[in-house]
Amino acid sequence: TVEKPWTGRFTEPTDAFVEAFGASVGFDQRMYKQDIRGSIAHARMLAHVGVLTEAERDDIIRGLTKIEAEIEAGDFQWSIALEDVHMNIEKRLTDLIGDAGKKLHTGRSRNDQVATDIRLYLRDEIDSAIAPELKRLQGNLIDLAEREADTIMPGFTHLQTAQPITFGHHMLAWNEMLQRDAERLQDCRKRINVMPLGSAALAGTTYPIDRDFAAEELGFERPTRNSLDGVSDRDFAIEFLSWASLLLMHMSRFSEELILWSSSQFDWVDLGDAFCTGSSIMPQKKNPDVPELVRGKSGRVYGHLTSLLTLMKGQPLAYNKDNQEDKEPLFDTIDTVKGCLRVYADMMARIQVKPDNMREAARRGFSTATDLADYLVRKGVPFRDAHEIVGKAVKLGVDTGRDLSEMKLEELQQFSGAIGEEVFEVLTLEGSVAARDHVGGTAPEQVKTGVQAARALL
Ligand code: ARG
Repeated sequence: TVEKPWTGRFTEPTDAFVEAFGASVGFDQRMYKQDIRGSIAHARMLAHVGVLTEAERDDIIRGLTKIEAEIEAGDFQWSIALEDVHMNIEKRLTDLIGDAGKKLHTGRSRNDQVATDIRLYLRDEIDSAIAPELKRLQGNLIDLAEREADTIMPGFTHLQTAQPITFGHHMLAWNEMLQRDAERLQDCRKRINVMPLGSAALAGTTYPIDRDFAAEELGFERPTRNSLDGVSDRDFAIEFLSWASLLLMHMSRFSEELILWSSSQFDWVDLGDAFCTGSSIMPQKKNPDVPELVRGKSGRVYGHLTSLLTLMKGQPLAYNKDNQEDKEPLFDTIDTVKGCLRVYADMMARIQVKPDNMREAARRGFSTATDLADYLVRKGVPFRDAHEIVGKAVKLGVDTGRDLSEMKLEELQQFSGAIGEEVFEVLTLEGSVAARDHVGGTAPEQVKTGVQAARALL
């Protein structure tokens, strides 16, 4: 049996099931790099203030470096009896280097250690994967917007044809959401990037520690300001899960649109064979699995947010073992977000749009009715009257199965004498989108400007 580092006051061994029930090593071992980095910084700090000798510090660093290599090579023996990643590594260090290893935990507790590890881990994931993948997805959406700046589609309200828009404009709308997500992520990172190490169990420590030294070693902005809060604060994780929930809400909305657009009823886009699957029974099927899965995964991320909020709400200060339950929701959210961003970035780089079908859909839904009303207003007709006049023209179109642009001038003139020959320019889809030529409008020229602006923010 493995010897635990805290058995001094115990006379009976831990119940075997309790040992397995309480162990977190199965899932917290993924923080081994951060645990080792944190321990090295702690050892350097202890040597810096004279609590460890330089020789002890160097032995610790050598030992931890060896352990990191063992873990990476798959040679490390993880033990459930040693509960978590922290005690597994510390025990191995003592086996490797003896007494110096036993001194590593001086002035430290697993409570500030784990809080530090999680922050380092989350920061690493944001910097190395999440932020770059989000940016890659944005870049691909912006490129697509540029390619399709002139492509006309019907814009919807109530999922009913509203007015013609450009596909590029629609892609830039998605990018706006992601741009806010990118900015929110960096804001959230500020509150992740503070260091609890030095809070010890809850009250701080009697050793002359230099927390600024350790914070600088680990690239933290500053040490946390209160030791009780330092060990028990998980706001940063909840903020990240809220961030992820917003991101997934956006991605779920995109997914909903892509699923509709790739149906045979719409047939506006082809997501590519590499991103779809077939049916085991229906030979004709090509299913939009990727957007469906992403839409579905929003549910698990919202669930994790609720888990963590609920985990924290009943806890008195300071650390409680409940907190061990913070990791799985957080880790699963990180994995889920990374997966969704990656697959979306790849998919959006290869999506094929079908401009003819989108254009045809825009032509069918009286999407230029507002343009006709605006035309009448320019001729001096009050807007409310113009609205009524065009409504009557639309009624005729519905009854006779024709678009406004397909009616004869005399037919339109029976609704208003103000209508002249030039009305047919107003009723074209190209004229309609080109006319919305102001900041934030759908005109192709605005899309091109918007593309440059969006790139500049990346
Ligand atoms: N595995 C623990 C966790 O994840 C580490 C901290 C344990 N601290 C303690 N006092 N039992 O929270």
